Amino acid sequence: MFMSHNERTYCKPTEREFVLFQTLIKQKIGIHLNDSKRTLLGSRLWKRIIATDSENYYQYYKKISKPSGNKELKTALELITTNETFFFREDKHFQFLKEEIISKQRSSQLLRIWSAACSTGEEPYSIAMTLDDLAVKNQLIVASDVNEQVINQAKTGIYLDQRAHCVPDGFREKYFTKGLDEYHGYIRIKPDIRSRVNFIKVNLMSDFTSMGTFDLIFLRNVMIYFEDDAKTQLLSKMASCLREGGWLFTGHSESLHTLNTKFKCIQPAVYYKA
Ligand SMILES: C[S@@+](CC[C@H](N)C(=O)[O-])C[C@H]1O[C@@H](n2cnc3c(N)ncnc32)[C@H](O)[C@@H]1O
Repeated sequence: MFMSHNERTYCKPTEREFVLFQTLIKQKIGIHLNDSKRTLLGSRLWKRIIATDSENYYQYYKKISKPSGNKELKTALELITTNETFFFREDKHFQFLKEEIISKQRSSQLLRIWSAACSTGEEPYSIAMTLDDLAVKNQLIVASDVNEQVINQAKTGIYLDQRAHCVPDGFREKYFTKGLDEYHGYIRIKPDIRSRVNFIKVNLMSDFTSMGTFDLIFLRNVMIYFEDDAKTQLLSKMASCLREGGWLFTGHSESLHTLNTKFKCIQPAVYYKA
């Protein structure tokens, strides 16, 4: 009797297999999976083990480590990233943007903003809506992520209706259209707001310093996955992409106070480049 691959029962990576993936993932995208993440890694990669007809995690690891396995490596890495996000997450940043940054700059001045781990786009679209609501016209919003699947999703601007539970009063009507027929239950960001966000793929572990200089960088809820050495290197590159007097926003659980950086903390999760 034969068992089809689809019927193979799930098995967890061995400790040695886990260490191989742990090292590879950290080297490629900076994400550190601590030892408690063995089951998580297994559950995320198991379907690829089946899909690629690999005997076990080790064989799959060998496949994705070869130059010919680059496409599958990308798939594996995309399965490892955690993409949780929502509109106007950590809304103190949007208040700060409004009250401390926009209100204090000349209206004609170009404002360059980078959402550096944008996931499915809720963060950069929240920025675009905030600027539009304040009638800021001269702006450049770059939004990037290492995961191309989430970037492609972000570009569509289509979300489940309930994803917009945190948008400020009036924004739902002003900036979203409701889906009909097969899109019933979905909403879409209006074209004008969509067109203000430029989505690109950027791996924060790469040398991205030629991207130019920004006035404000959102680097939120991504450093939680990195170890201190990767964070310090990343923050040094971020400092060279931020103009003097520019702002860096991090996630509220991502304090920089133990790291050696060029940023001055102004309030929790808000940093200034002096
Ligand atoms: C939890 S989401 C945060 C989304 C948004 N910034 C927020 O705060 O709601 C983390 C994102 O970081 C991205 N990410 C992880 N490692 C990355 C890397 N090395 N370079 C760029 N993006 C990365 C993931 O793909 C994921 O979309």
